[in-house]
Amino acid sequence: MTSTPPLPGAPGLAFFEDLRPPAGDFRADVLAGLAKPQKAIPAKYFYDPEGSRIFDRITRAPEYYPTRTELALLDAIGPERRALAGPGAVVLEPGAGSSVKVRKLIDALDAPASYVGMDISGDHVKAACADIASDHPDMVIGAVCHDFTRPIDLSALPLPPGRRIVFFPGSTIGNFELIDARALLQTLAGWLRPGDALLVGADLRKEASVLEAAYDDAEGATADFNFNLVSRINTELDGTLNPEGLRYRAFWNPYRSRMEMYLQAVRDQHFTVCGREFVLRESETIHTENSHKFTLDTFRDLARSAGLAPVHAWQARQQPFSIHWLECPGEA
Ligand code: AVI
Repeated sequence: MTSTPPLPGAPGLAFFEDLRPPAGDFRADVLAGLAKPQKAIPAKYFYDPEGSRIFDRITRAPEYYPTRTELALLDAIGPERRALAGPGAVVLEPGAGSSVKVRKLIDALDAPASYVGMDISGDHVKAACADIASDHPDMVIGAVCHDFTRPIDLSALPLPPGRRIVFFPGSTIGNFELIDARALLQTLAGWLRPGDALLVGADLRKEASVLEAAYDDAEGATADFNFNLVSRINTELDGTLNPEGLRYRAFWNPYRSRMEMYLQAVRDQHFTVCGREFVLRESETIHTENSHKFTLDTFRDLARSAGLAPVHAWQARQQPFSIHWLECPGEA
């Protein structure tokens, strides 16, 4: 095991690499999105500090089943996952979010050698990984500030040998357009060597009423999540979008097998963003997010199209939700 001097502010971390991901261009993306025939704002802008706090509220809403279902499934499959992974695994987590999930993974593995969390927010990932390191002094724990949709040269990181397991829970894959989801799986597949695995959560199709309630909870957390985008536009981009003239809508689109989220105008409104003028007509919508829902087979097909071999899939009993063990084919 490598022994490195403690990092300032992050005791226990073996390394911290700042790959300086370019910040998204909120201004350019909002202006371009509002100029489209179907107005749209990229969902990645949900996650400022306030948006991340609201997302935590969503995960606790009674109607929002994915988080609690995936956590229960992770518990249930611990022994099988341990057997599949074998001893001394090196766990890599792109978009390291809730450490609760990766802790469940690490705790169920056989003497894992290493964990490396990656996130676009350097401070967040450093703190989350240092926290895990304090409970796992025998593992090599590292943190990387990186946008996981972009290429990374893993050979530049001091990773110990061992079977790599890339952990991508939460069904975040469902928030990408299918073509981008495939490209992302290809990127993650590029982190693997033959025999290494990608462990990924994928939410499954279910009744429209369950889905629409999960994405429009009674307490209004998901609506607040969307209205936080309006606040961001108004405060950061000198916008005049009137939130009182908007309502939040979430629809199941069975043809595209996805939940679609929108802000809809209750009456005409003229507004400006960075001095540029826009009009929203009554009932017109701003598209804010998609959340694709799969079947076991459609997800396996997506994985195969990205060059990954589906080896095992587990399904939750409480609500349809799946976790897939996908391997990089070839001789290990
Ligand atoms: C992060 N992602 C998996 C969530 C989802 O379920 O698609 C984002 C979300 N948006 C509204 N509620 C949850």
